[in-house]
Amino acid sequence: MVCFLWIVLIIVFLVLTFKYYFGTTRWCKSTVKLNGKTALITGGNIGIGKATAIDLANRGARVIIASRNKEKAIQTIREIYEKTGNDNISFMYLDLMDLEVVRQFAKQFLKEEKRLDILINNSGTHVTANSVHPGLVATDIIMTPLKSVLPEKLYLVFDPWFRFFSLDCTAGAQTTIFAAVDESLTTVTGKYFGHCRLAWDNKLAQDDEACQQLWDYSMKMCGLT
Ligand SMILES: NC(=O)c1ccc[n+]([C@@H]2O[C@H](COP(=O)([O-])OP(=O)(O)OC[C@H]3O[C@@H](n4cnc5c(N)ncnc54)[C@H](OP(=O)(O)O)[C@@H]3O)[C@@H](O)[C@H]2O)c1
Repeated sequence: MVCFLWIVLIIVFLVLTFKYYFGTTRWCKSTVKLNGKTALITGGNIGIGKATAIDLANRGARVIIASRNKEKAIQTIREIYEKTGNDNISFMYLDLMDLEVVRQFAKQFLKEEKRLDILINNSGTHVTANSVHPGLVATDIIMTPLKSVLPEKLYLVFDPWFRFFSLDCTAGAQTTIFAAVDESLTTVTGKYFGHCRLAWDNKLAQDDEACQQLWDYSMKMCGLT
């Protein structure tokens, strides 16, 4: 009996420790308002991007959601309006896999928009002034591939467990929001954040030669050299 209790205690301890490290997050505490500012979020129609869009809209920003699925974006725009009362949200079609579409998007944006204050490269690429890790978040990007590889019954067991150990989208969006709005980061660039604070970055990320190689390779892949 004592042995059994010890086993239960150890399991509870391990579960809580795991949940603490992987399933908790710090919250962006900035109360800054963004009235008159324009924010562009790639992939703002679902997941972490959507939670970020809701937050920025709540602060009064004009928010432009750039993604492929117009239907989901329209739903999100409606939801944002219901939650925040902000009706200055719009959708622009963008497929980051097609560089011609990206160029057209940039042209259209420059033609139609007067300003860009916050750019959040949430989908497709992390290339931005600062980059962030959202933590482990139960979104389509993770759940859809799992659903396709796991047998249905196993997935049904796995799904609630995974959701228990991971963050929801609002929690997952905190570091993105923090990097976008926190006043302490106004002049901070080229850094990596997680849990709403500066995070440890891999040594390779500080290797100038490797960075140059990655840049050259990316330029080549995009057909720009
Ligand atoms: N979830 C996690 O645990 C986790 C962990 C680390 C990093 N991340 C990163 O966080 C970011 C957001 O992911 P998420 O978890 O919120 O996933 P998600 O819910 O699946 O959302 C992905 C978003 O990206 C858009 N998107 C996908 N392909 C695109 C393309 N070719 N062009 C334009 N937009 C595209 C999608 O919209 P459309 O389909 O309408 O285009 C959607 O809005 C991703 O960069 C992901 O790598 C997530």
